[in-house]
Amino acid sequence: MDNFTYCTPTKYIFGHQAEMNAGTELNALGINSVLLCYGGGSVVRSGLLDRVEGALSEAGIKFVKLGGIEPNPTDPKVREGIALCREHGLRGLLAVGGGSVIDTAKAIAAGVPYDGDFWDFWAGKAVVTQALPVGVVLTIPAAGSEGSGNSVITLLDGMHKISLRTDFALRPKFALMNPELTFTLPPAQTAAGVADMMAHIFERYFSTTPDVQVTDRVAEGVLMAIIEEAPKVMASPCDYQARANIMWCGTLAHNGICGTGRREDWVSHFMEHEISAVYGVTHGAGLAVVQPAWMTFMAHRAPAKGAQLARRVFGVDDPDDTSAALKGIECLKKFYSSLGLPLTFGELGIEHPDIDLLVRKLHENKGQEIGGYYRLTPAETAEIYRLAL
Ligand code: NZQ
Ligand code: ZN
Repeated sequence: MDNFTYCTPTKYIFGHQAEMNAGTELNALGINSVLLCYGGGSVVRSGLLDRVEGALSEAGIKFVKLGGIEPNPTDPKVREGIALCREHGLRGLLAVGGGSVIDTAKAIAAGVPYDGDFWDFWAGKAVVTQALPVGVVLTIPAAGSEGSGNSVITLLDGMHKISLRTDFALRPKFALMNPELTFTLPPAQTAAGVADMMAHIFERYFSTTPDVQVTDRVAEGVLMAIIEEAPKVMASPCDYQARANIMWCGTLAHNGICGTGRREDWVSHFMEHEISAVYGVTHGAGLAVVQPAWMTFMAHRAPAKGAQLARRVFGVDDPDDTSAALKGIECLKKFYSSLGLPLTFGELGIEHPDIDLLVRKLHENKGQEIGGYYRLTPAETAEIYRLAL
């Protein structure tokens, strides 16, 4: 096990009516004004935004609204938010939504106190040392941004989708998590969220660091809970207990607990980010296509971890590592299919992906050789994209 520092300073308030704590939590942090960020309208239609506004008003918190944040969020909304915060002297951000809204709020939070262009942080030219505090009302378990220090933004100029990873600076101060808020999710979003949270665990699980039994077992436990609960939420979208379990899995998958003490990989995410940047697909759906392809490549090069996953999580009984890993991938694909997730570029709606473009952008953004579990060259990432055809 490697040395590590684990600090997840987000306060999670979980359960019925959790969103009604927005005002009191902000007051407790000494924040009296916020930019209230939300997406394309689901929170308006469900009445959630009205309730949150009520909770803020009751607590005497001034707010300015920034709506219309789209999935796979882009830099213009961030710039608009930074300008609004500065114009109104706002002291914090409240994100009501999923990863796209939360990530936009985090980017605004980093940009407001910074003299230069906020993209400097994503371009690796500057490090976030101060940011406005961010609070979250979560509406979709998927990206795990409510408990992560990351923010994924696309720069429209060049369509660069980059994940900025900070240890602590951008972790939300609090996340209000009411499973009932997820009852209205369309099935495709629920399923994509499941693939995303599983992917967050796989990126950490596929590690060459030895002697990480506890972290492996935590990861396997969360994966097994997801596999048990996901069919229930698909069959009964208003099953509170199943929704609650899936919601908490999404947070544990990405708040760091599944990665403690080991080197992580993240190539499947890097490869997917290029797909969602270029083709605008849902992140989790893109992962359901690209990650099994990555695992298939690994089954033939470095099968040990895939074989362990197959045996412990999917109950595969096969003494040969490559063949066990391949059987595990078949189980995973069958599971994704049962949730209605795509498994190929074609099923994702991309009949003729421009693999040369994806590979060129991937290595431009991430370097010539990528991956923590196994180093991949451009020829090899092209092969993985082709495995997903
Ligand atoms: O925009 P609205 O109308 O709200 O609709 C959203 C959106 O269309 C809808 N939705 C959300 N909650 C709903 C709902 N519809 C009905 N009822 C509800 N309760 O779902 C759609 C997707 O929302 P989005 O916020 O995009 O989902 P998600 O949480 O999957 O976020 C995806 C983004 O997060 C990034 C992804 O790359 C992508 O840009 N990621 C962020 C990470 C992080 N910050 O740590 C890690 C992830 O790996 C990921 O890369
Ligand atoms: Zn993800």
